[in-house]
Amino acid sequence: MVTPVLRVEGLTRSFGGFRAVSSLTFHVDPREIVGLVGPNGAGKTTTFNLITGFLRPTAGRVWFQGREVTGCPPHRLARLGLVRTFQQTRVFSRLTVEENIRLALHRHEPGGLRRTLWGPAPGEAAALERRVDEILEFAGLQEARRRRAEELPYGEQRILGVAMALAVDPVLLLLDEPLAGMNATEAEAAIQLVRAIRDRGVTVLIIDHHMETLMRHCDRLVVLHHGEKLAEGPPEAIRRHPEVVRVYLGEEAAV
Ligand SMILES: Nc1ncnc2c1ncn2[C@@H]1O[C@H](COP(=O)(O)OP(=O)(O)OP(=O)(O)O)[C@@H](O)[C@H]1O
Ligand SMILES: [Mg+2]
Repeated sequence: MVTPVLRVEGLTRSFGGFRAVSSLTFHVDPREIVGLVGPNGAGKTTTFNLITGFLRPTAGRVWFQGREVTGCPPHRLARLGLVRTFQQTRVFSRLTVEENIRLALHRHEPGGLRRTLWGPAPGEAAALERRVDEILEFAGLQEARRRRAEELPYGEQRILGVAMALAVDPVLLLLDEPLAGMNATEAEAAIQLVRAIRDRGVTVLIIDHHMETLMRHCDRLVVLHHGEKLAEGPPEAIRRHPEVVRVYLGEEAAV
């Protein structure tokens, strides 16, 4: 049996008396693309916050590559290769696209602080620029490299957010609504980037409301409803799952 890249067991988080995530158990295997879906307020982002150390679980445990990481701070998890993007785009809007990527690389790579204070060592600068080029090329942002992030269409800003996460060399990438605000064509292009990331060996857990796009491209889906796991399985099974159909038809406006 392979060791899952991510395993969560009994994950629970209460806010006051309200349980946002309740006894959630699931795993993600190496090189899978798993979709975490559910109506607004189902507990998807809270689950990401619990996995990535932005929130402490009330109960439950998290393992990353077989090692328990429950409660580890976000920066330590990022160094191990557990990296996330945020539902609200967090690019530096006044900086150009390439400056954003450079900054993400600077923050991550060893010697980042030394370099920020005293500049790159000989040879380092060229290597860094090669990485910037490579990431821009891979994400399809070469043309936009000298534009300020705030000038990009919203969809490209979200792609830039994903590209910045790639600078951190993720083993597991958690994407919180990377397709938000995109039409079907843009969403399809963006999911192709997600697939290309997976094809490079990165495991992906993706939250989004573009159900059709996720159905076509995820290996498995985990469906949350009111903080609990409602269903889990391959897209064809989820599509026919009676409880899922009931929730989504009943709350169509939220999907
Ligand atoms: N810090 C917090 N304090 C109190 N309640 C919170 C907090 N964070 C989340 N919640 C509540 O927990 C529930 C789940 O929120 P969460 O953001 O995880 O949902 P979501 O599935 O990501 O929804 P969406 O699809 O709208 O992004 C919501 O009712 C939300 O109001
Ligand atoms: Mg959310």
